[in-house]
Amino acid sequence: MVHTTQCCILMGCLCLFYPWSQVCEWREPEELAALLDLELRENGEPQHQLLQRIRDVAKYSVKTNHPRFFNQLFAGVDYHALTGRFLTEALNTSQYTYEVAPVFVLMEDEVLSKLRSLVGWAEGDGIFCPGGTMSNMYAMNVARYRAFPEVKLKGMWSLPRLAVFTSQQSHYSVMKAAAFQGIGTENVFKVKVDDRGCMIPEDLGETIELAKSQGAVPFFVHATSGTTVQGAFDPLEPIADICDRQGLWMHVDAAWGGSVLFSKEHKHLMRGVERADSVTWNPHKMMLTGLQCSAILLKDTTHLLKHCHSADAKYLFQQDKFYDTSLDTGDKSIQCGRKVDCLKLWLMWKAVGSKGLEERVDRAFTHTRYLVEEMKRREGFELIGKVAPVIKERMMKQGTMMLGYQPQGGRVNFFRMIVISPQLSHQDMTFCLNEIERLGNDL
Ligand SMILES: *Cc1c(COP(=O)(O)O)cnc(C)c1O
Ligand SMILES: *[C@@H]1O[C@H](CO)[C@@H](O)[C@H](O)[C@H]1NC(C)=O
Repeated sequence: MVHTTQCCILMGCLCLFYPWSQVCEWREPEELAALLDLELRENGEPQHQLLQRIRDVAKYSVKTNHPRFFNQLFAGVDYHALTGRFLTEALNTSQYTYEVAPVFVLMEDEVLSKLRSLVGWAEGDGIFCPGGTMSNMYAMNVARYRAFPEVKLKGMWSLPRLAVFTSQQSHYSVMKAAAFQGIGTENVFKVKVDDRGCMIPEDLGETIELAKSQGAVPFFVHATSGTTVQGAFDPLEPIADICDRQGLWMHVDAAWGGSVLFSKEHKHLMRGVERADSVTWNPHKMMLTGLQCSAILLKDTTHLLKHCHSADAKYLFQQDKFYDTSLDTGDKSIQCGRKVDCLKLWLMWKAVGSKGLEERVDRAFTHTRYLVEEMKRREGFELIGKVAPVIKERMMKQGTMMLGYQPQGGRVNFFRMIVISPQLSHQDMTFCLNEIERLGNDL
């Protein structure tokens, strides 16, 4: 038994250190299902067969840590964070009370407070969530609770029609949150963006008036720092002015862009973020902690998060415990058991320091500039349009790299290149451009 477990760990590591030449091993779904022999049976299997299964799992999975995986807003691997992830799994505890997670309760508090200080807040609140989508949902829920505390007891029927504001290019989780929380997707008002994809503050003002004229009650503005496709940063200062004037909750979705706060050179992109009420930040994206690691940070010091979500379960959160029960942070969450997500970030941060993280962010920007320059030098790169899906199919079947594409607004399909892995070099960028040319040569 122990032997198998050790083998699994070994294989897991091998999967990372093994010099995979391909990013993926594409198979049609039916073929893959047959290869993997997924069916679960009455009897267990011998060791050698299990080891083969582990090898297959690794072989046919996408190597997201491969330097030529540019497909998602996460990529690469940081070995300190990975060690934190192994340790988290091995220790297998839940983050909800000090009694079962003494180390992690204190650690989460430290990490959140450090992230908040980068936002510019000396105090505040926060919690790690299962992803940026959930962090954004927390923000909307707490904002609604601040505006209408009766919602917790009486539900939506005690409320007027509510209105949420976000840019045309914000992440789709705003829509999910509005649907999930009974606000309704039709009550998410989309604010226009400029050429670079940044929210136009004047249009925010006008859209708020429009919503009011329709009888809706504005309560929440969802700005974005680093939009999912174009990487645009909404102008936070003028948005904050409007939120102040109108008394609206200002949320900044910095799931993708938050990490610029580490960089002296680039943090100006989020100028004014300290005026927000809440911030979503996904260290599992630009900071490479590995999935998943996302925080919702709040400026609030009145325990809104807890008041909004608590259910006071008597079997977990007894008030007559022998230690300070404010350390039992679990009731701030909408979950019961909650995975430990702080250790991987803490260990990596300890290892490379804020300086190391700053260098990573700066390097990603350098790579981007290099890529833009290279592309300008080459002809034909604007013509990708209809050919992107074909090039994507070819790259996946040959397994040489993975790169996402999409249309947007009036633009035809284009590739979205993500350059955050610390393993990346300028050669990989050149490779990527050459590869697009090679794969699309005959089109
Ligand atoms: C990725 C992203 C999200 C969603 O985060 P998940 O962790 O994937 O749920 C939300 N907002 C922005 C701007 C993002 O880039
Ligand atoms: C992890 O913890 C849960 C309960 O918290 C327990 O049921 C499970 O057996 C544990 N798993 C391992 C692998 O330790």
